[in-house]
Amino acid sequence: MASLGFNLGFSLSNLQIQHRRKVPASGSARVVSCISSSSSSSSPQAPPSPPPEIELEFFAPKPGSDGSYPVNKAKAVSGAKLMRSIMQDNKIELYAAYGKVMNCGGGGSCGTCIVEILEGRDLLNERTDTENRYLKKKPESWRLACQTIVGNKENSGKVVVQRIPQWKK
Ligand code: FES
Repeated sequence: MASLGFNLGFSLSNLQIQHRRKVPASGSARVVSCISSSSSSSSPQAPPSPPPEIELEFFAPKPGSDGSYPVNKAKAVSGAKLMRSIMQDNKIELYAAYGKVMNCGGGGSCGTCIVEILEGRDLLNERTDTENRYLKKKPESWRLACQTIVGNKENSGKVVVQRIPQWKK
């Protein structure tokens, strides 16, 4: 197959162009088909760099039998997900007993998805009005996981989270 060398400003890879032309032959019309394809780009492009990522560590609220606090780890593309979704995707427990059965499903109307940010607060969005309402008398480091966007699409780094911080008090 012939390779098309047109420079149209975009890749023609895997593009198929079909030409049909009527060619008179012996007094009757005949259809000639030709299919051209281009499987390689005329100008090589660097592969896109991967999006920045945020590493997360989630500390359990109570120590294990050896006295150390269990830690769950996760990674997320910067700015792509809420803390609540990341925890659910990685099967990391978010809610205390009441929240397990009475949470609002991430709608910002129950105030039960509380986490404490131990490190990396600057990698998250600002507290929302909903958080300011539910967490008015709580430490600044407390957030509602369903309101917390992890990363801003450009930053990367590590966020350390205390799960169920209300159990520490
Ligand atoms: S899940 Fe209800 S406020 Fe976050």
